[in-house]
Amino acid sequence: MYPGPTIYAREDDTVVVKVSNLTPYNISIHLHGVRQRLTCWFDGPAYITQCPIQAGQSFKYRFTLLNQRGTLFWHAHISWLRATVHGPLIIYPKQGVGYPFQPPVEEHVIILGEYWLRDVQGLERHVKESGGGPPGSDAYTLNGLLGPLHNCSRDDVYTINVKKGKNYLLRIINAALNMEHFFMVANHTMTVVETDGEYTKPFKTTFLMLTPGQTYNVLIKADQSIGKYFMAMAPYMPAKNAPFLKKTSYGILRYASHTVKVDKLARKSHMKTSMTPLEPIIPNVNDTVSVQAFSDQVKRLNPNHQWSPVDVPLRIDKTLFFTIGLNVSAPTHLTLICQGPNGGIFAASVNNVTFRRPMVSLLNAYYNNLQGYYSTDFPDKPEKMYDFVNGAPNNISVDTQPAIGTQVSILEHGWAVQVIFQDTGTVGTEKHPIHLHGFSFYLLGTGLGNYNSSTALLNLYDPPYRNTVGVPVGRWAVIRFRADNPGMWFMHCHLEVHTTWGLSMAFLGKNRKGKMQNLPPPPPDLPLC
Ligand code: C2O
Repeated sequence: MYPGPTIYAREDDTVVVKVSNLTPYNISIHLHGVRQRLTCWFDGPAYITQCPIQAGQSFKYRFTLLNQRGTLFWHAHISWLRATVHGPLIIYPKQGVGYPFQPPVEEHVIILGEYWLRDVQGLERHVKESGGGPPGSDAYTLNGLLGPLHNCSRDDVYTINVKKGKNYLLRIINAALNMEHFFMVANHTMTVVETDGEYTKPFKTTFLMLTPGQTYNVLIKADQSIGKYFMAMAPYMPAKNAPFLKKTSYGILRYASHTVKVDKLARKSHMKTSMTPLEPIIPNVNDTVSVQAFSDQVKRLNPNHQWSPVDVPLRIDKTLFFTIGLNVSAPTHLTLICQGPNGGIFAASVNNVTFRRPMVSLLNAYYNNLQGYYSTDFPDKPEKMYDFVNGAPNNISVDTQPAIGTQVSILEHGWAVQVIFQDTGTVGTEKHPIHLHGFSFYLLGTGLGNYNSSTALLNLYDPPYRNTVGVPVGRWAVIRFRADNPGMWFMHCHLEVHTTWGLSMAFLGKNRKGKMQNLPPPPPDLPLC
């Protein structure tokens, strides 16, 4: 199935997902946005919390959805298999509990994807061997369908039938691999009520911009007259001079009074002329100003609301300053073609460290005290501070020769952690959707240019509680979370190619006694390397 099956559950449920690998490839599954409280063995990123499920093997993921409700998703977490191995995870409120907004007459899940005609593991190999960027995908998909604008796909249109005057809830997930996306519906405004599985203060918008890994729930009122209206997904790509494919895929919102009879005619005329649905207005592919204005509107519910999440930590125990960005390295003997800028190869890093995947799972290495697989000295800040946005010329070497290592950052139990992300702009200015495993975090603010603690405006009142933050182009973003969940937690850019290039690291969350003994032992079917 593409996309994969939807998992439906309720808040506080214990969920067991048995994954049987019937393919010849290695696989692992991650429940994206599930906080995995005290269940880090089931988080899923390959070589971080488990070894891959090998051909013919199976593994049961067992976790609870403690204090979680909303729209999330699951996806493969190895190589580039996430491209086609993913599906929604829908968590309803507890039995008898409603939503903090007007109940919709119907709910629909829309998972946005990117589809390649080529083998996606081959794409990853190509990126590694060439040192260059990935080829663009062949199509964008809404629930696996392209929409009516291609000759071969006229019948493959994701369609929602609506009745005039009714209210609908759309649960929208960006499961794309390497592309951020706009989503909109012609002639309809959307009211955002949830992001990343947490209720938000409602606001109206004509478009959404979702980074890979982000989810939005919106209410949409069928307030138009009869007819058909396109839903569209279109790329957002702020990188300077980056090649991109400008294409759009469509679904249709169809008013019920548009009878079946008319539809038969429509099929005959191949949806031409008067039957053509109305087109939405799509923001420009690089319209960062509108995207920023949209993202800035996302706020949590009033802190006193019964569904408002845990309090924002006001006192900080640990501050980390992470530069995130792309680098260009000198060619290595591993690279055959060197398609990166200036005959070099692309790399990416956090604090100028390119993450090297270990040979065993980090969690297993920690739990069983296996030496030599990682070190615990991940830098709290970059070695050299410089003008990240303009790139001071005498420090350019910082950006061109990243170190390579498997280092983790230790979080003592209960610490209130603040992480400042600084997008470095010296090698193409690109946005990085940073995703944290094991925790949700408050996004306190973002701002243009170099982060400055004396001028940065941070929202401590109603910041959104998220699992993926799009760190904007040439900007900074500040997050806070409470390190109260022991385990080995991956943090990475959710543009898969950037993770391949090394834009990732891991946190080692200690438990109360500084050890792992409070955790249940590894499950008996945990895959071994
Ligand atoms: Cu959705 Cu580590 O990923």
